[in-house]
Amino acid sequence: MKDKKITIKDGQSGNEIDLPVLDSILGPNVVDISSLEKDLGYLSHDPGFIATSSCESKITYIDGNEGELWYRGYPIEELAEKSNFTETAYLLLNDKLPKIEELSNFSKDLSNSYTIDSSIKKIINVFNKDSHPMAIMTACLSFLSAKYHADIDIQNQSYRYKSTINLIAGVPVISAWILNYILDENFQTPNKKISIAENFVAMSFPNLTNEQKVLSSKAMDIIFLLHADHEQNASTSTVRLSGSSETSPYAAIAAGISTLWGPTHGGANEAVINMLEEIKNSDKDVEYYIDKAKDKENSFRLMGFGHRIYKNYDPRAKIIHKIAHEYLDMLDSKNPNKPLFDIAMKLEKYALEDEYFVSRKLYPNVDFYSGIVLKAIGIPQSMYTVIFALARTVGWVAHWNEMIQDKNFRIGRPRQLYTGKTKTSYKDIEER
Ligand code: ACO
Repeated sequence: MKDKKITIKDGQSGNEIDLPVLDSILGPNVVDISSLEKDLGYLSHDPGFIATSSCESKITYIDGNEGELWYRGYPIEELAEKSNFTETAYLLLNDKLPKIEELSNFSKDLSNSYTIDSSIKKIINVFNKDSHPMAIMTACLSFLSAKYHADIDIQNQSYRYKSTINLIAGVPVISAWILNYILDENFQTPNKKISIAENFVAMSFPNLTNEQKVLSSKAMDIIFLLHADHEQNASTSTVRLSGSSETSPYAAIAAGISTLWGPTHGGANEAVINMLEEIKNSDKDVEYYIDKAKDKENSFRLMGFGHRIYKNYDPRAKIIHKIAHEYLDMLDSKNPNKPLFDIAMKLEKYALEDEYFVSRKLYPNVDFYSGIVLKAIGIPQSMYTVIFALARTVGWVAHWNEMIQDKNFRIGRPRQLYTGKTKTSYKDIEER
């Protein structure tokens, strides 16, 4: 509605201004504070962006209390059941599900871009084998930003489409090459005839049987789909802020990868596996670890439980829980990952019934199960965040495209609450 507003009164000067309220389709409406400084002489202050909407977006909707996640209005559960990563990428980019021909053209454009510049292998080769794969990945993206530097033309739709396709198709190939390298395998050649997930599995594990390839590709495709977007999280906001300077999209994605790398963002699934291994190898039972997590004197937390946004079961965790079940059931019952999964199920059961976790709304998050599936597929732990990054590249480029076409597009430039020194005169070194 046009006239919605919030009135702010300055208690000191008595001045009063009306700030317009912008309606959201769902979720809290927002107050447009862009005139706050001009009209009242104040800035807003919100460290951590707890109550700040940084942009207008039509891509992803999350209701943390209800445990809902929708891509372009479609619930994640339906997409995980009926769609696939490629079609979901089209949806995130285009705001509609593709018709047969549209999907076929999009898939062809993607597979034609699997053959990225093979000089990237040289970049990977200069790293030590034990280098973190996320560091290698940012270097590869940096190489691409140099390669395509002369063409930058972000207002041009066909430039944006080409960069989008290069990134969505190229990052998985780079990821598979990094995996080949750290596993001491030869660099594998991409296969244009198969999907991104199938190609990633085929390149990463060339020695699997066809049956194993099908099984692992299916699980991987759903993991990619579940991680494809999550609205304005730290890495997506980084891509937007970086891209807002009109830099190369490859450089903006490299910035997103750097942000995702941190343990409080993309690195939690690794921590879950470490915790499950610790429980498996200890002589203590699951109850002991539940008690330890509840003990306020102890800093131990149940990894994979709790979420800043979801105060309900993370909908992605439900889906991946089912995948983990199906996947591990189909694997050999002697698979070394079965005991980890059994411990995870016990932990989940205890925690969901325990007053401490129930009252704090601490439910399993997506990372609680994704590490188990990735481990069972054979992905080394240090690569888990790379898998996350390759999937999230779709969301990052969708947000980058949306931002550039926004009528309010301009460089992002946060302000600050300055609490440093007032103007100070320089003193010569002898006088200090
Ligand atoms: N185990 C035990 N207690 C917990 C846990 C946990 N995993 N998570 C939160 N709590 C407790 C806190 O101690 C606090 O208790 P109190 O109210 O008695 O002080 C209460 O629950 C609220 O916790 P906060 O830290 O305020 O919640 P916040 O929203 O800031 O943190 C976070 C969310 C970081 C995810 C937290 O739950 C956590 O550390 N979880 C484990 C790590 C993890 O799984 N991270 C992955 C997040 S999902 C993702 O990135 C895709």
